[in-house]
Amino acid sequence: MPDSANPPIVILTGAGISKESGLDTFRDADGIWAKVRLEDVATPEGYARDPETVHAFYNARRKPLVDQSVAPNAAHVALARLEEAWPGEVLIVTQNIDDLHERGGSRNLIHMHGEMLKVRCDFCHAVMPWAEDATVKTKCPECGVTGQVRPHVVWFGEMPLEMDRIEAALGRCGLFLSIGTSGNVYPAAGFVQQVRYLGRAHTVELNLEPSEGATAFAETRYGPATDLVPAFVEQVLTRGW
Ligand code: APR
Repeated sequence: MPDSANPPIVILTGAGISKESGLDTFRDADGIWAKVRLEDVATPEGYARDPETVHAFYNARRKPLVDQSVAPNAAHVALARLEEAWPGEVLIVTQNIDDLHERGGSRNLIHMHGEMLKVRCDFCHAVMPWAEDATVKTKCPECGVTGQVRPHVVWFGEMPLEMDRIEAALGRCGLFLSIGTSGNVYPAAGFVQQVRYLGRAHTVELNLEPSEGATAFAETRYGPATDLVPAFVEQVLTRGW
Protein backbone atom coordinates (compact mmCIF):
# COMPACT_ATOMS: atom_id res chain seq x y z
CA MET A 1 0.00 0.00 0.00
CA PRO A 2 1.25 3.53 -0.74
CA ASP A 3 2.82 5.55 2.07
CA SER A 4 -0.14 7.45 3.50
CA ALA A 5 2.12 10.28 4.65
CA ASN A 6 3.40 10.74 1.10
CA PRO A 7 0.64 9.30 -1.10
CA PRO A 8 1.15 8.88 -4.85
CA ILE A 9 0.35 11.91 -7.01
CA VAL A 10 -1.18 11.62 -10.49
CA ILE A 11 -0.98 14.64 -12.77
CA LEU A 12 -3.03 14.90 -15.98
CA THR A 13 -1.74 17.48 -18.43
CA GLY A 14 -3.12 18.90 -21.67
CA ALA A 15 -2.11 21.34 -24.37
CA GLY A 16 -2.45 24.33 -22.02
CA ILE A 17 0.75 23.40 -20.16
CA SER A 18 2.71 23.76 -23.43
CA LYS A 19 1.00 26.95 -24.60
CA GLU A 20 3.53 29.29 -22.94
CA SER A 21 6.29 27.32 -24.64
CA GLY A 22 4.81 28.46 -27.95
CA LEU A 23 2.78 25.37 -28.93
CA ASP A 24 -0.85 25.90 -29.90
CA THR A 25 -3.69 24.37 -27.93
CA PHE A 26 -6.58 22.69 -29.77
CA ARG A 27 -9.75 24.46 -28.65
CA ASP A 28 -8.67 28.00 -27.83
CA ALA A 29 -9.88 30.61 -30.32
CA ASP A 30 -6.48 30.47 -32.07
CA GLY A 31 -6.17 26.73 -31.56
CA ILE A 32 -5.33 23.98 -34.00
CA TRP A 33 -8.94 22.91 -34.57
CA ALA A 34 -9.76 26.47 -35.62
CA LYS A 35 -7.28 26.08 -38.49
CA VAL A 36 -7.67 22.49 -39.66
CA ARG A 37 -10.54 19.96 -39.45
CA LEU A 38 -9.78 17.24 -36.92
CA GLU A 39 -11.74 14.83 -39.10
CA ASP A 40 -9.11 15.33 -41.81
CA VAL A 41 -5.94 14.96 -39.74
CA ALA A 42 -6.79 13.21 -36.44
CA THR A 43 -8.96 10.25 -37.45
CA PRO A 44 -8.15 6.89 -39.09
CA GLU A 45 -10.71 7.75 -41.77
CA GLY A 46 -8.94 11.03 -42.58
CA TYR A 47 -5.62 9.18 -42.83
CA ALA A 48 -7.07 6.51 -45.10
CA ARG A 49 -8.64 9.21 -47.30
CA ASP A 50 -5.54 11.41 -47.63
CA PRO A 51 -2.40 10.13 -45.89
CA GLU A 52 -0.15 12.79 -47.44
CA THR A 53 -2.17 15.61 -45.82
CA VAL A 54 -1.98 13.85 -42.45
CA HIS A 55 1.77 13.29 -42.78
CA ALA A 56 2.26 16.97 -43.71
CA PHE A 57 0.23 18.05 -40.64
CA TYR A 58 2.41 16.03 -38.26
CA ASN A 59 5.67 16.78 -40.12
CA ALA A 60 5.01 20.51 -39.57
CA ARG A 61 4.25 19.99 -35.85
CA ARG A 62 7.29 17.73 -35.37
CA LYS A 63 9.77 20.34 -36.65
CA PRO A 64 9.85 22.76 -33.65
CA LEU A 65 10.43 19.77 -31.37
CA VAL A 66 13.28 18.42 -33.51
CA ASP A 67 15.02 21.79 -33.90
CA GLN A 68 14.17 22.57 -30.26
CA SER A 69 12.88 26.02 -31.23
CA VAL A 70 10.32 25.46 -28.46
CA ALA A 71 11.46 24.76 -24.90
CA PRO A 72 9.94 23.46 -21.67
CA ASN A 73 8.50 26.24 -19.50
CA ALA A 74 8.44 26.81 -15.73
CA ALA A 75 5.39 24.57 -15.36
CA HIS A 76 7.13 21.56 -16.95
CA VAL A 77 10.23 22.19 -14.81
CA ALA A 78 8.16 22.51 -11.61
CA LEU A 79 6.55 19.10 -12.23
CA ALA A 80 10.00 17.55 -12.66
CA ARG A 81 11.02 19.16 -9.35
CA LEU A 82 7.94 17.61 -7.70
CA GLU A 83 8.83 14.17 -9.08
CA GLU A 84 12.38 14.57 -7.77
CA ALA A 85 11.49 15.91 -4.31
CA TRP A 86 8.23 14.12 -3.42
CA PRO A 87 8.96 10.95 -1.37
CA GLY A 88 6.00 9.12 -2.93
CA GLU A 89 5.37 8.30 -6.60
CA VAL A 90 4.59 11.14 -9.01
CA LEU A 91 3.13 10.05 -12.37
CA ILE A 92 2.38 12.44 -15.22
CA VAL A 93 -0.33 11.23 -17.61
CA THR A 94 -0.11 13.61 -20.54
CA GLN A 95 -2.49 14.01 -23.46
CA ASN A 96 0.27 15.97 -25.17
CA ILE A 97 2.36 14.47 -27.96
CA ASP A 98 5.25 16.93 -27.51
CA ASP A 99 8.42 16.05 -25.54
CA LEU A 100 8.45 19.08 -23.26
CA HIS A 101 7.81 17.08 -20.07
CA GLU A 102 10.85 14.91 -20.81
CA ARG A 103 12.99 17.92 -21.69
CA GLY A 104 11.76 19.61 -18.51
CA GLY A 105 13.18 16.69 -16.50
CA SER A 106 10.15 14.44 -15.89
CA ARG A 107 10.82 10.70 -16.10
CA ASN A 108 7.70 8.91 -14.80
CA LEU A 109 5.43 9.78 -17.70
CA ILE A 110 2.72 8.22 -19.86
CA HIS A 111 1.84 9.72 -23.25
CA MET A 112 -1.73 8.41 -23.48
CA HIS A 113 -2.23 10.01 -26.92
CA GLY A 114 1.15 8.96 -28.32
CA GLU A 115 4.23 10.96 -29.25
CA MET A 116 5.03 13.25 -32.20
CA LEU A 117 8.70 12.15 -32.16
CA LYS A 118 7.77 8.53 -32.84
CA VAL A 119 6.19 6.68 -35.77
CA ARG A 120 4.82 3.17 -36.03
CA CYS A 121 4.53 0.70 -38.87
CA ASP A 122 1.03 -0.55 -39.64
CA PHE A 123 2.59 -3.66 -41.19
CA CYS A 124 5.02 -4.90 -38.50
CA HIS A 125 3.72 -2.70 -35.63
CA ALA A 126 7.22 -1.51 -34.69
CA VAL A 127 7.27 1.83 -32.83
CA MET A 128 10.42 3.87 -33.44
CA PRO A 129 11.87 7.32 -32.71
CA TRP A 130 11.46 9.60 -35.72
CA ALA A 131 12.92 13.07 -36.32
CA GLU A 132 12.51 13.61 -40.06
CA ASP A 133 9.48 13.93 -42.29
CA ALA A 134 7.35 10.83 -42.88
CA THR A 135 5.48 10.34 -46.14
CA VAL A 136 3.57 7.64 -48.00
CA LYS A 137 6.93 6.71 -49.55
CA THR A 138 8.66 6.13 -46.20
CA LYS A 139 10.11 2.63 -45.86
CA CYS A 140 9.84 0.98 -42.44
CA PRO A 141 13.41 0.52 -41.13
CA GLU A 142 12.27 -2.61 -39.27
CA CYS A 143 10.43 -4.62 -41.91
CA GLY A 144 11.32 -2.77 -45.11
CA VAL A 145 7.70 -2.33 -46.18
CA THR A 146 6.97 1.03 -47.85
CA GLY A 147 3.95 3.23 -47.20
CA GLN A 148 2.85 1.72 -43.87
CA VAL A 149 4.67 4.16 -41.53
CA ARG A 150 2.25 6.48 -39.64
CA PRO A 151 2.57 8.97 -36.78
CA HIS A 152 2.59 7.18 -33.38
CA VAL A 153 -0.36 9.35 -32.34
CA VAL A 154 -3.75 8.18 -31.01
CA TRP A 155 -6.52 9.52 -33.25
CA PHE A 156 -10.17 10.01 -32.41
CA GLY A 157 -11.84 6.62 -32.32
CA GLU A 158 -8.62 4.84 -31.35
CA MET A 159 -7.78 3.48 -27.89
CA PRO A 160 -5.47 5.66 -25.74
CA LEU A 161 -2.25 4.00 -24.63
CA GLU A 162 -1.43 2.35 -21.28
CA MET A 163 -4.96 2.67 -19.88
CA ASP A 164 -4.44 -0.26 -17.45
CA ARG A 165 -1.44 1.47 -15.89
CA ILE A 166 -3.32 4.78 -15.75
CA GLU A 167 -6.41 3.22 -14.10
CA ALA A 168 -4.20 1.53 -11.49
CA ALA A 169 -2.48 4.83 -10.69
CA LEU A 170 -5.82 6.67 -10.40
CA GLY A 171 -7.00 3.96 -8.01
CA ARG A 172 -4.21 4.51 -5.51
CA CYS A 173 -3.40 8.23 -5.67
CA GLY A 174 -3.86 10.70 -2.82
CA LEU A 175 -3.70 13.79 -5.07
CA PHE A 176 -5.09 14.14 -8.61
CA LEU A 177 -3.93 17.30 -10.35
CA SER A 178 -5.28 18.40 -13.76
CA ILE A 179 -3.33 21.07 -15.65
CA GLY A 180 -4.04 22.81 -18.97
CA THR A 181 -6.83 20.64 -20.34
CA SER A 182 -10.34 21.65 -21.41
CA GLY A 183 -11.94 18.41 -20.22
CA ASN A 184 -13.49 17.81 -23.63
CA VAL A 185 -11.97 14.45 -24.58
CA TYR A 186 -12.58 11.10 -22.87
CA PRO A 187 -11.30 8.99 -21.21
CA ALA A 188 -8.97 11.71 -19.81
CA ALA A 189 -11.91 14.03 -19.06
CA GLY A 190 -13.43 11.32 -16.85
CA PHE A 191 -10.36 10.68 -14.68
CA VAL A 192 -11.42 13.19 -12.01
CA GLN A 193 -14.80 11.47 -11.60
CA GLN A 194 -13.06 8.08 -11.26
CA VAL A 195 -10.80 9.47 -8.53
CA ARG A 196 -13.68 11.17 -6.71
CA TYR A 197 -15.73 7.97 -6.80
CA LEU A 198 -12.95 6.26 -4.84
CA GLY A 199 -13.17 9.09 -2.32
CA ARG A 200 -9.56 9.10 -1.10
CA ALA A 201 -7.79 11.74 -3.18
CA HIS A 202 -7.82 15.50 -3.21
CA THR A 203 -8.61 16.81 -6.71
CA VAL A 204 -7.21 20.07 -8.08
CA GLU A 205 -7.67 21.84 -11.43
CA LEU A 206 -5.03 24.36 -12.52
CA ASN A 207 -6.12 25.96 -15.79
CA LEU A 208 -6.40 29.29 -17.59
CA GLU A 209 -10.19 29.10 -17.26
CA PRO A 210 -12.76 26.62 -15.90
CA SER A 211 -12.72 23.37 -17.91
CA GLU A 212 -15.81 21.35 -18.87
CA GLY A 213 -15.21 19.29 -15.74
CA ALA A 214 -14.40 22.15 -13.36
CA THR A 215 -17.25 21.45 -10.92
CA ALA A 216 -15.92 17.94 -10.29
CA PHE A 217 -12.74 19.27 -8.67
CA ALA A 218 -12.48 19.90 -4.91
CA GLU A 219 -10.14 22.82 -5.59
CA THR A 220 -9.64 25.03 -8.67
CA ARG A 221 -7.14 27.76 -9.44
CA TYR A 222 -7.16 29.80 -12.67
CA GLY A 223 -4.34 31.56 -14.43
CA PRO A 224 -1.29 30.76 -16.60
CA ALA A 225 0.35 27.41 -15.87
CA THR A 226 3.77 29.04 -15.46
CA ASP A 227 2.37 30.97 -12.47
CA LEU A 228 0.07 28.33 -10.95
CA VAL A 229 2.17 25.17 -11.24
CA PRO A 230 5.43 26.32 -9.60
CA ALA A 231 3.39 27.88 -6.75
CA PHE A 232 1.34 24.71 -6.24
CA VAL A 233 4.43 22.49 -6.31
CA GLU A 234 6.10 24.73 -3.71
CA GLN A 235 2.99 24.42 -1.53
CA VAL A 236 2.87 20.62 -1.84
CA LEU A 237 6.54 20.30 -0.94
CA THR A 238 6.38 22.70 2.03
CA ARG A 239 2.92 22.17 3.55
CA GLY A 240 1.03 19.61 1.48
CA TRP A 241 -2.54 20.14 0.17
N1 APR B 1 -1.99 27.92 -18.79
C1 APR B 1 -2.92 27.03 -18.37
N2 APR B 1 -3.95 26.60 -19.14
C2 APR B 1 -4.03 27.10 -20.39
C3 APR B 1 -3.11 28.04 -20.90
C4 APR B 1 -2.05 28.44 -20.04
N3 APR B 1 -1.13 29.33 -20.44
N4 APR B 1 -3.48 28.35 -22.18
C5 APR B 1 -4.59 27.62 -22.44
N5 APR B 1 -4.93 26.89 -21.37
C6 APR B 1 -6.06 25.97 -21.22
C7 APR B 1 -7.29 26.36 -22.02
O1 APR B 1 -8.10 27.24 -21.26
C8 APR B 1 -7.97 25.00 -22.23
O2 APR B 1 -8.87 24.72 -21.16
O3 APR B 1 -5.66 24.72 -21.74
C9 APR B 1 -6.81 24.00 -22.21
C10 APR B 1 -6.49 23.42 -23.56
O4 APR B 1 -7.61 22.69 -23.98
P1 APR B 1 -7.57 21.95 -25.41
O5 APR B 1 -7.09 22.90 -26.43
O6 APR B 1 -8.90 21.29 -25.59
O7 APR B 1 -6.44 20.84 -25.25
P2 APR B 1 -6.54 19.46 -24.51
O8 APR B 1 -7.48 19.53 -23.36
O9 APR B 1 -5.16 19.01 -24.24
O10 APR B 1 -7.17 18.51 -25.64
C11 APR B 1 -7.32 17.13 -25.31
O11 APR B 1 -8.05 16.69 -27.58
O12 APR B 1 -7.78 17.19 -29.79
C12 APR B 1 -7.51 16.25 -28.83
O13 APR B 1 -5.80 14.68 -28.81
C13 APR B 1 -6.04 16.05 -28.65
O14 APR B 1 -4.82 15.62 -26.63
C14 APR B 1 -5.78 16.48 -27.23
C15 APR B 1 -7.13 16.32 -26.57
